[in-house]
Amino acid sequence: TTYYDSDADLSVLDDATVAMIGYGNQGRSQALNLRDSGVEVVVGNRDDEYRERIEDDGFEALSIADAAERGDVICLLIPDEVAPEVFDTEIEPGLDEGNAIYVSHGYNLTYDLLQPPETADVVLVAPRMGGWAVRELYESGDGFPSVLAVEQDYTGDAKATALAMAKGIGSTRAGVIEGTADMETKIDLLSEQALLPIMMAAMTTKFEVEVAHGIPPKIVMSELYLSYEMAEIFEEMAERGYLGQLPFHSRTSQYGQLSRFDQFDPEPLREFYEEQLQGIDNGSFAREWSAEQELDRPGLKRLYKKYRNSAFFEAERETMERLDFGAEDD
Ligand code: NAI
Repeated sequence: TTYYDSDADLSVLDDATVAMIGYGNQGRSQALNLRDSGVEVVVGNRDDEYRERIEDDGFEALSIADAAERGDVICLLIPDEVAPEVFDTEIEPGLDEGNAIYVSHGYNLTYDLLQPPETADVVLVAPRMGGWAVRELYESGDGFPSVLAVEQDYTGDAKATALAMAKGIGSTRAGVIEGTADMETKIDLLSEQALLPIMMAAMTTKFEVEVAHGIPPKIVMSELYLSYEMAEIFEEMAERGYLGQLPFHSRTSQYGQLSRFDQFDPEPLREFYEEQLQGIDNGSFAREWSAEQELDRPGLKRLYKKYRNSAFFEAERETMERLDFGAEDD
């Protein structure tokens, strides 16, 4: 089911206080949108550089524990890696029966890392959008899609609360699709663990082939994404669909794209997707990542180091330094 503005009733939050825990990408944008929608919002944050922005924006900056204590809907919008511990130590002690816990990503629920008490509602509204756009699209009146899920309905009103929150942040304007936290976790992680790696492999391999055939790395890189042409194509795809934007390309390009798409063998990709999805489903990725974090991320650091010095990313860096559109070429 997809829900729009008319399906959501903001007045269910009339007597409620929303406690925004975290004031980063999502926290700030969602807090500002909710306040502009007439919802009472307090912000809880640890004592770090985000604190100042909270007061600059005219919110009272409370400690996490104080905000959670005051809130009826407690939004957990801090990094997923730290959320379970912060919840256990600073939020749960101040929870009242019937409070709602609100998250914007399913990860900690899917892997039982976050375990809210049975006496709470648990809802998810996950914008398919980065934090800055959540604010910008609210201000422009456009809205943005989200996935909505009710994971625990203690009060019987969890769905109404979730819908009101989705409306308050401006998402029901564009449409909110109901699913489960697990589905949201899956599509998110599979994009991260398969789609983006496949796209990066497709580009680095194209680079290697073209450079091996004598084309200067700078020319190769400029065609890939540094010129923003790819970004524009993706923008048109979002606007008109893939086929809808094809006529903006030359006929040669249209024929080249569709005929080779038709010939391409997706089976190895399907296998890779299936393999990653299995690791997402059976929790082996989550265990791997938890272990990695316990050791202070040695694997992530090693991978950054490995790729920072690869031919592809060196060419990318050099091209970015030199390729200044509109400026004189060297
Ligand atoms: P962020 O990285 O911008 O969070 C920063 C906030 O977390 C600050 O308020 C900071 O004070 C607080 N914080 C950081 N470490 C902390 C700690 N150890 N203890 C207490 N507070 C701490 O987070 P972001 O990107 O806004 O993500 C929040 C949630 O939204 C996550 O569940 C994420 O998966 C989800 N999400 C994020 C999107 C994005 O645009 N980045 C898109 C959709 C969902």
